[in-house]
Amino acid sequence: MSENHSHSTHDAQADARNDNIKIWVNGDLVHKDEAKISVYDSGFMLGDGMWEGMRLYDGEWAFFDEHMDRMFNSLKTVSIDLGMTPADVRDILDKTAAANGMTSDAHVRLMITRGKKSKPFQHPGLSKWGPTVVAIMEHSKPAESLQGQGIRLATVPQVRGLPMSQDAKYNSHSKLNCVIACLQAEQAGADEALMLDPHGFVNTTNACNFFIVRRGEVWTSTGDYCMNGVTRQKVIDLCRANGIPVHEKNYSLYEAYGADEAFLSGTFGAQTPVAEIDGKSIGTGDRPVMMRIRALYKELVAADVAKQKATRP
Ligand SMILES: Cc1ncc(COP(=O)(O)O)c(C=O)c1O
Repeated sequence: MSENHSHSTHDAQADARNDNIKIWVNGDLVHKDEAKISVYDSGFMLGDGMWEGMRLYDGEWAFFDEHMDRMFNSLKTVSIDLGMTPADVRDILDKTAAANGMTSDAHVRLMITRGKKSKPFQHPGLSKWGPTVVAIMEHSKPAESLQGQGIRLATVPQVRGLPMSQDAKYNSHSKLNCVIACLQAEQAGADEALMLDPHGFVNTTNACNFFIVRRGEVWTSTGDYCMNGVTRQKVIDLCRANGIPVHEKNYSLYEAYGADEAFLSGTFGAQTPVAEIDGKSIGTGDRPVMMRIRALYKELVAADVAKQKATRP
């Protein structure tokens, strides 16, 4: 491994304003120190809930419709009735942003659980009072060191599994599968984990989707065993629209180690370069394809924000 520069894909620049943010908790906006839910909540007790991470640009939540599609699909799959429309959700986000004086460079973790239970046991029917809705919104600028140095990944034994165990597409409150992977990577001296699929093909990291670039082509996993990342899909769409060859396919560590570039995608950091995998440097450190995709992604966010502004009721 190269010199110690330990960090994670969600490192943000320090911002003292985050000590005094207001958090949405079931209809109330309360100071961070006072924001509380019951110890009987299904999210706390069982990890029984779903969440979305979104970024605020110029007053709009980038790719809001896509995030809502995924969230409502996930909630339906686990029979959590939010009792709200996407417009109601936007209203919660708008009120929380206004209470915190945020218009740009903010990130929200919107969390919905099955709600408070009458007894400390697993049965979903024990959640009798409807869902718990929490929105934690922080001032957020990804740390600049992420772009300069890149992330060091280690391949780990923990896999993201078959859809009939816990589908990797659930953005569930329980991230234990990913947390175990991240611990294994840290114990191997890396920043984050590169997770394989059940067949041994390169799949995803514990918190982001994963891409390699080989001879000008962008490769990512089939998508069968990883999060259906909004950013992942945007990267694929941008490549297709801009003449960059892109493939969703099986490939192994052999091709990953020998890649010219590797990068992660996710709402928080957009595209984040990978410096090393298992102690092996990736490429020369020049990242022309990722840089081009980053520039295209920035333009796409701006276009989406402009479109949302134009269609606000
Ligand atoms: C495991 C995992 N992969 C990938 C992503 C990135 O998804 P998105 O691009 O929608 O932020 C996330 C974010 O929630 C995630 O938890």
